[in-house]
Amino acid sequence: MPKLAINGGTPIRTEPYPIWPPVLDAEIEAVNRVLREGQMGRITRFGNGGSNETDKLREAWTAQYPGKDYALPCSSCCTALELALRNAGIGPGDEVITPPSTWVASNLAPSQVGADVVFADVSPDNYCLDPEAVEAAITERTRAILLVHVGGYCARMDEMMAVAERHDLVVIEDCAQAQGSKYKGRFVGTWGHFGCFSFDVGKLMPSGEGGMLTLDADDLAGDWIYGTCGHAGAQIDALAEGRHIDGWNYRMTELQAAILLAKLGRAEEEKWVRIKNAEHLRSRLAEIEGIGDVPHDPEQTYYSFMFKYDAAAFKGVHKRRFAEALAAEGINKLFSSPSDQEPAYRSAYFNPHGRDYSNVFCPVAERAYEHEAIGISGVEVLLGPETDMDQIADAIVKIQDNIDELISSDGQ
Ligand SMILES: Cc1ncc(COP(=O)(O)O)c(C=O)c1O
Repeated sequence: MPKLAINGGTPIRTEPYPIWPPVLDAEIEAVNRVLREGQMGRITRFGNGGSNETDKLREAWTAQYPGKDYALPCSSCCTALELALRNAGIGPGDEVITPPSTWVASNLAPSQVGADVVFADVSPDNYCLDPEAVEAAITERTRAILLVHVGGYCARMDEMMAVAERHDLVVIEDCAQAQGSKYKGRFVGTWGHFGCFSFDVGKLMPSGEGGMLTLDADDLAGDWIYGTCGHAGAQIDALAEGRHIDGWNYRMTELQAAILLAKLGRAEEEKWVRIKNAEHLRSRLAEIEGIGDVPHDPEQTYYSFMFKYDAAAFKGVHKRRFAEALAAEGINKLFSSPSDQEPAYRSAYFNPHGRDYSNVFCPVAERAYEHEAIGISGVEVLLGPETDMDQIADAIVKIQDNIDELISSDGQ
């Protein structure tokens, strides 16, 4: 009789993980209220009318995650990234350094403003952009570092800011997967010049779509100019001075803001549930040979809980085959790498805009993707009871104990 579920044995877990995101009564009520008030959009014909959910969200966000002057609600993290680059005045001829281990949006953003993307490798400990690799990649055209706190784990922001200061660079933090994470006691999105967050449906605080840009007054080129195609007070002043400020529409709707306001406090509570579960899971995984820890900050969130797989302790079974076996055991919310993506420079979704990236090779990102890094979706899995964490460890132990069975069934 086979033991492993992949071969027809009984899985460790049979029940599905909860559907994400749950929809709460408070959110339904908030949306209904805004609709009843007839204020689904932020701007009325007569100016900034409406129920001001977005304004309330700006204030509530800054109160919960202090450290920046402004929080601008946007239509997505993609638009927040673009806005950050535009606010920094980055465009054609400029280079922006990005990591290869991310969702490709981080690498596409510079192209959106006509800048060139340069890749620097991630650090071998937690797969976030490595400050030393960044410094080595700087040229006379480099204008910005666009780093990613991948999975909720934090890039080494103190070192990154020191590099940026030495070379007079703008720092944009892609916090799409890290809302609520703190690095060395300070919230991500408040270390660099700009912080960009995502509220898309799979993220830690979803409103279907949505994003947030955090920034200081000094770095703000025009605030609502970005919501009104240039029809705003700052533009009137600029035109009077013979200047023109570009405007476009990056706005979040009042409906999204109402949902997010109903979720904001809960997001912080959920972070602590994830942290507690991560600690328990980590202590169980520490007992398993061949499963390595990914260093973490004590107050970081877990969009993905990552661990390092050493095939040598599993008789050479490749991590992808191991992950298939784990999924069959019912632990099926897995990431194939830090970002669930191949290194971005070889992604079919990365648009090089005529530049040749065929010689780019980041060994740490490659090793993470091909051999080492496995993530468990922290969004829903790490919100479960402690027994769900035990199931994960039990499933890994079961596979290890029956590794010969997995090897003999390989390829079937
Ligand atoms: C690291 C990262 N950056 C940016 C984005 C883009 O976010 P959005 O879908 O809100 O545009 C995502 C979304 O998956 C992401 O994971």
